[in-house]
Amino acid sequence: MVERVLVTGGAGFIGSHLVDGLVSGGFDVVVLDDFSGGRRENLSVHFGGSNFCLVEGDVRVKADVEKALDVVDAYLRVTEKRKGLYAMFTMSS
Ligand SMILES: NC(=O)c1ccc[n+]([C@@H]2O[C@H](COP(=O)([O-])OP(=O)(O)OC[C@H]3O[C@@H](n4cnc5c(N)ncnc54)[C@H](O)[C@@H]3O)[C@@H](O)[C@H]2O)c1
Repeated sequence: MVERVLVTGGAGFIGSHLVDGLVSGGFDVVVLDDFSGGRRENLSVHFGGSNFCLVEGDVRVKADVEKALDVVDAYLRVTEKRKGLYAMFTMSS
C-alpha cells in the first residue's frame, strides 16, 4: 500500500496543491524541489509537520533523486514540460 509519496516540483503551483491534497488525504509526503521556480511559501503550512519532508535538490541529479526515493513508496512528477506535451502527472510505485 502506498503511504509515502514523493512530489517532485512540489513547491510549484500545481505541485504544492498536490501536496496539500495528499497530506489532507492522510499520506506522508516528500517534496523534491530545487526552488528554481517554486516558492517556500507554497509549502509553509507543512513545515514542521510529521507527515512532510522537504529534500532540496535537482531531479536531474542522481544523488538527489536517490535521496528522495529512498524514503517513498510512489512519486508524482510535475517538473517537466516536454515538446508540445505537458507530461506532468507520472505516478509510479
Ligand atoms: N500552472 C498551470 O496552469 C499549468 C497548466 C498546464 C501545464 N502546466 C505545466 O505543469 C508543470 C508545472 O506547472 P506549475 O505551474 O506548477 O509550475 P511551477 O514553476 O510553479 O512549478 C514547477 C516546480 O518544479 C520545480 N523544478 C523545476 N525544475 C526542477 C528541477 N530540475 N529539480 C527540482 N525541481 C525543479 C520548480 O522549482 C517549481 O517548484 C509545468 O511543466 C507547466 O508547464 C502548468
